[in-house]
Amino acid sequence: MKMARKLVYVETYGCQMNVGDTEIILSILRDNGYDRTEVMEEADLILANTCSIRDNAEQRIHGRIARFAQEKRRGTADGTAPLVGIVGCMAERLKDKLLESGVVDLVVGPDAYRSLPGLLAAVRPDNPQMDVQLSRDETYADIRPVRTDRLGVSAFISIMRGCNNVCSYCVVPYTRGAERSRDAHSIVREAREVFEAGYKEVTLLGQNVDSYLWKSADETVNFAELLRRVAAIDPLLRVRFATSHPKDISDEVIETMASMPNICRHIHLPVQSGSTRMLELMRRKYSREWYLERVARIREVLGEDCGLTTDVIAGFCTETEQDHADTLSLMEEVGFDWAFMFQYSERPGTLAQRHYPDDIPPEVKTRRLEEIIALQNRKSLERYRAQIGKVHEVLVEGPSKKNPAEICGRASNSMMCVFPGSHPAGTYVRVRVVDCTSATLICEEI
Ligand code: SAH
Ligand code: SF4
Ligand code: F3S
Repeated sequence: MKMARKLVYVETYGCQMNVGDTEIILSILRDNGYDRTEVMEEADLILANTCSIRDNAEQRIHGRIARFAQEKRRGTADGTAPLVGIVGCMAERLKDKLLESGVVDLVVGPDAYRSLPGLLAAVRPDNPQMDVQLSRDETYADIRPVRTDRLGVSAFISIMRGCNNVCSYCVVPYTRGAERSRDAHSIVREAREVFEAGYKEVTLLGQNVDSYLWKSADETVNFAELLRRVAAIDPLLRVRFATSHPKDISDEVIETMASMPNICRHIHLPVQSGSTRMLELMRRKYSREWYLERVARIREVLGEDCGLTTDVIAGFCTETEQDHADTLSLMEEVGFDWAFMFQYSERPGTLAQRHYPDDIPPEVKTRRLEEIIALQNRKSLERYRAQIGKVHEVLVEGPSKKNPAEICGRASNSMMCVFPGSHPAGTYVRVRVVDCTSATLICEEI
């Protein structure tokens, strides 16, 4: 007898790890009778894959839960009320508190997705289900993710889970558990499969990719070796990775990038602050000088044009005007291509929340963040302008959003390029940069 298939609708928040996890969840559900829909109103199961990194990320989800509640009411009369599940980092952090609203039927943490079918079979309107067990060894290595990107050009591959650092501001070690590296062979196999399916780019994902380390009885694979193996699949497969940690990025990784042209010339290297005193309080385990030395090494080996991007936090505990000025001067000195910039948001249970006062007034945080953003905008424009006249190889992603007669795609250094043309997604095109904005290179094909 064939069971009627059901429909699952998923919203994904947070980082690329969550995007990858949604693809794992869809794979597990597909094998258990659920197809994906992009229309919430027809779903039998509504999932939100959530993020806890800052308070505003969580507030947004609470707003969505209120919206899902309306959707449940829609179906109570005819018995088609959808189930609502909260998965991901907020599920792990808030656990059964999420059940209090009476809206949520399912709470599942990032290491418990294999139990979804069992939980779904057990769930009843008056009997919500929860699994927030963290794991020391779960990497979902054997699960083939259902790709959710529309273009079929670029795929994310998780190479590790969790995080063993304890940056004092950060909730991730609590929501994602201890660090563990995935079987290197399963990563290379997945990369080969997506390449054979027509993808041209893979991004290897972890909270701290430089500490990737996988051991079996007869081999040990570190991140540099993993990069070599993935890049060796085919010269036409581009390899990207994120996130690198300044304390761990090694000369071997930088030199491996230099030795293989299909490893993209871009490093996302979150600095967080330019003040060594702040970095100590943040427990980042490097100093301003160490960070600048790593940048110098990257530029020496990979050249001035290597893409370099970062994350910055404004207004962390006890931050003085001098500490803030140190952040601005570091950003001035390095000249990042772009950055993610945030105000510090205190997270319950973290070291900072337990030991330091969140003592920078909101208006001061806002003003410092504005100064950081203004400086970065100026630096971005400088960095993009410096590309005018240069030649890049672009991997086409599709038509430009602004002008359908143009196509867009990224250069190896991760800068977005637009140019007139009609090549299909997945083609490599050589272009020359003729103009720019602070976020786009305007090019022509050569
Ligand atoms: N693993 C990565 C970053 C993960 S979180 C790394 O170590 O670099 C992404 C970014 O969110 C961080 O780099 C940091 O800049 C920011 N972030 C993390 N916790 C935060 C908090 N409590 N308040 C504001 N920003 C935060
Ligand atoms: Fe958070 Fe630090 Fe781990 Fe990054 S390295 S996820 S900032 S604890
Ligand atoms: Fe957010 Fe969790 Fe990623 S807290 S940033 S979704 S690891």
